[in-house]
Amino acid sequence: MSERIFNFSAGPACLPEPVIKQAQKDIWDIYDSGIGIMEHSHRGKVFDRVTHETEAACREVGSVPDSHAIFWMMGGATSQCYFVPANFLPADRTADYFETGKWAQDSIREVPLYGGLHICGSSKESNFSYIPTGDQVEYSDDPVYVQFTSNNTIMGTEFASEPDAPEGAFLVCDASSNIYSKPIDVSKYGLIYAGAQKNLGPSGTTLLIARRDLLEEPVRELPQMMQYSNHAKKEGRYNTPNTFGVYLMGQVFRWILAEGGLNAMAEKNREKAMVVYDFLDSQDFFIPHAEKASRSMMNITFKCPTTDLDAMFIEGAEKKGLDGLAGHRQIQGMRASMYNAFPKAGAEALVAYMKEFAHEHAAASA
Ligand SMILES: Cc1ncc(COP(=O)(O)O)c(C=O)c1O
Repeated sequence: MSERIFNFSAGPACLPEPVIKQAQKDIWDIYDSGIGIMEHSHRGKVFDRVTHETEAACREVGSVPDSHAIFWMMGGATSQCYFVPANFLPADRTADYFETGKWAQDSIREVPLYGGLHICGSSKESNFSYIPTGDQVEYSDDPVYVQFTSNNTIMGTEFASEPDAPEGAFLVCDASSNIYSKPIDVSKYGLIYAGAQKNLGPSGTTLLIARRDLLEEPVRELPQMMQYSNHAKKEGRYNTPNTFGVYLMGQVFRWILAEGGLNAMAEKNREKAMVVYDFLDSQDFFIPHAEKASRSMMNITFKCPTTDLDAMFIEGAEKKGLDGLAGHRQIQGMRASMYNAFPKAGAEALVAYMKEFAHEHAAASA
């Protein structure tokens, strides 16, 4: 079997090794049932157990209170861009959105189909290099909810803490790229959603953690599949779910618990990210994109002095077993994604290569 290399992919991304090894067994036969996880009915006893264990582990990891339901949907985090306003925003009310990157903009685009939109903070003028805070934030008079993207995967920026929504409004968070990377106070949120493929498992399933009272009735008539309440009531099994995705998420939650929970995740993620940020701050060859106060612990974005050098850097990295470092086309350059399962040795290998590359090319580009 070939060796595994350092995978800096922004998602789907690297998974914890013990989880992959357990999955290899369970694909063949789960719980001594004689049937593999992907071959069990989503309405059978084995998958009942998988669903309930995944839910319980998710609750334990995030200390999710009973006031909040946990369930799964398909269609990616992108479908939540319209699910949220369709279910929560009456036609005659307004929702406030932070505009902090492409994923936020995708959500913003759907809002006027359903109700009023107010941008309460934007860093568009700087190609989203920071998270608006303090005076840069202005809420509308009486928003139904305030939506933000807790980590901007493409730009490499992250909210240091959740915004303070005005009285009466609840928080909606797209946490796709930093869910369970650090402690979170779920009780402050109306809805948290996250595509699994970065910190939680394979692509094709989306985790939802939602206040139960918000799920009772959508604010308008909607097709059955578009109503959160149906998905929540049926434990994410309103239609046939991505059974393997829900199973694997459960394994990832158990791995997080075995590693020491969210405090341990936060500490390790910080250590890894600081290996790269400390180096970026000590030199003047590579140019970081995110402002210091808004830096992401998950995705680190930087550039060489020219686009030709960016291309050479990425090509050279691949030869050294450092994969997935090309930046998103919206900002280009490089992006090192280092989610929960990514090892610190990978961050150290990246910095060793960055030093070598800068040494070789600094004089030529001066
Ligand atoms: C923060 C964020 N939101 C939404 C998405 C879109 O997710 P999906 O492709 O699962 O719809 C991504 C994908 O990278 C993301 O990083």
